[in-house]
Parts: sequence; C-alpha cells; structure tokens
Amino acid sequence: MPTETQTPAWTDADLSANPHANADKAKRVERMFASIAHAYDLNNRLHSMWRDQAWRRAAVKMVELKPSDRVLDVACGTGDLAIAFAEALYPQALPGVPGQVTGIDFTLPMLTRAYDKWYSHGIVEHYHDDPDTNPGAEGFIQWCQGDAMYLPIPDKSVDVVSIAFGIRNVADPAAAMREFYRVLRPGGRVIILEFSTPTNPVIRFFDRVYRERVMPITASLIARDKSGAYKYLPKSVSTFIDRAGMVESMRAVGFTDPTIKTLTFGVAVCYRGVKV
Ligand SMILES: C[S@@+](CC[C@H](N)C(=O)[O-])C[C@H]1O[C@@H](n2cnc3c(N)ncnc32)[C@H](O)[C@@H]1O
Repeated sequence: MPTETQTPAWTDADLSANPHANADKAKRVERMFASIAHAYDLNNRLHSMWRDQAWRRAAVKMVELKPSDRVLDVACGTGDLAIAFAEALYPQALPGVPGQVTGIDFTLPMLTRAYDKWYSHGIVEHYHDDPDTNPGAEGFIQWCQGDAMYLPIPDKSVDVVSIAFGIRNVADPAAAMREFYRVLRPGGRVIILEFSTPTNPVIRFFDRVYRERVMPITASLIARDKSGAYKYLPKSVSTFIDRAGMVESMRAVGFTDPTIKTLTFGVAVCYRGVKV
C-alpha cells in the first residue's frame, strides 16, 4: 500500500523545468520514494525486463572485491545492491565481520523494505542457527538512515562506495561525490550505476518512447502512484549530466582511472573510479 499521502511530489508544471535545478529537490525526492516504496522492486523488475539485478551484479563484478573489503552502498533504497555485495562477499568473508556492508538512504520506507528483505534472505536464514559457521549473518549488512551529502561515516574508513540509480536523485551530486572520496581509503573504488542515453539512434528512439510514453503510465498504475515519480524518472534522466559529465565530476574530486561499462545497449552505465 502507498505509505504516504498522495500529495504530488512533482506536478507537470514542476517537470516542465529541469528537476535537478528545483530548490526543493531533496524533499520532493524523499516524498516520492516514500510514496512508491511498496511497489519499487516490482516496477524495477518489470520495467527493466528483469535486467536490473543483472546490472547490479555487473556493478559488483566491476569492483573486483577482496574478501576483507568494507562496502558502503549509498542511496541503497530497498537494498538490492547492498545485498548483491553481501552475496558476493559472504562466502569468502565467513564468519563475517558485522557491518562489513553498510546501506544508507534517507527515505525510511525504502530502508525498512531493505531491512525486511535482508532479514528473510537465504544467507541470514541459512546461517542464523549455526553459531559455529556464523555468529551473526544479520549484522553483516547494517542499514542506516542518512544523507549522501553528509555521510555519517569517518574519513578513509571504507574500501568501496557504491551508488545505484541514486546519484541522479541527490540534490547536489558534486557534494555527494566529495563525500564518497572523503570516506574511501586510499586504493578504494567508487562504483556508480546509472541510467544513460543509448548512443545507437534506433535504440535511443525506442528507449525514449518506452521511458517517456509507456513506463510513466504502466509504472504509475502498478504503484497506484500520484506522486509524479514515474514522470520525474524520464525527465531526471534526460536532464542529468551525460557520460562525459559524470567522468568529469569524478575526476573533479580526485578519482583516477575512470572506466565505463555500458549495459544493455547503453540503457544503463556503470562507472568506476579509484582514490589514489
Ligand atoms: C532509484 S532509488 C535507488 C535505490 C537502490 N540503490 C537501487 O539500486 O534500487 C534512489 C534512492 O536514492 C535515495 N536518495 C536520494 N537522495 C538521497 C540522499 N541525498 N541521501 C540518501 N539517499 C538519497 C532515495 O531515497 C532512493 O531510495
């Protein structure tokens, strides 16, 4: 069920301008995600044609994890990327350091879904009753309410910072990027998964029709959403910085060796950078 009153976070008039320049972007984004949290996963699976989890696994692979890596997943939402990191790390990390993966988000209804999902996950259920192999799989991921622009995390304390479909939603992406750099240890990696505009004109055409004409109707119906979330989504993608801009913003805060991996014909892109 919708968890918030259905006051629109974004009206058509709001979205006639660039939503990234809206002075209330953070509040609107939070209200919007609170409103669609109940149907967020279902809409992701359906509207990505079941590609979204493969994109997250590709992001995890791009990190080249070491068993001891501490991971911070920012704007973790309902937890899918943090859980993908736990799935990749846990078999090697046994018996598992509490809080080796942290998921942070500022929208409580998204976070509570992440928490519930992890507590009923096979890793937690499998190891829960086996104190010899694992004293506490539950705590392997810690969930925390916090803001990407003011991370409640000490300097140089994590090895990996990730953000999936989140940087575009942050009010000041450059401020978040500076925070990612601050909390990473030297040698740490940042991974940014985000929608992108395909370079092939035919694919770009169909992607645009799907994203701008079909998905806002079907996704809003599924979520019974009146917040404007699925009208904001295509607008926020088309007005966000392009691939070159993202690489430039990574370099601007000090990340080196930026690499880009395109996913599903460039509908999504994964960026990786390193803190020297
Ligand atoms: C599209 S969802 C992505 C969720 C998840 N990472 C995934 O892969 O499905 C974007 C998330 O960004 C969060 N978000 C936006 N701005 C934020 C901020 N400044 N600090 C923390 N979370 C933020 C929203 O609450 C929302 O859960």
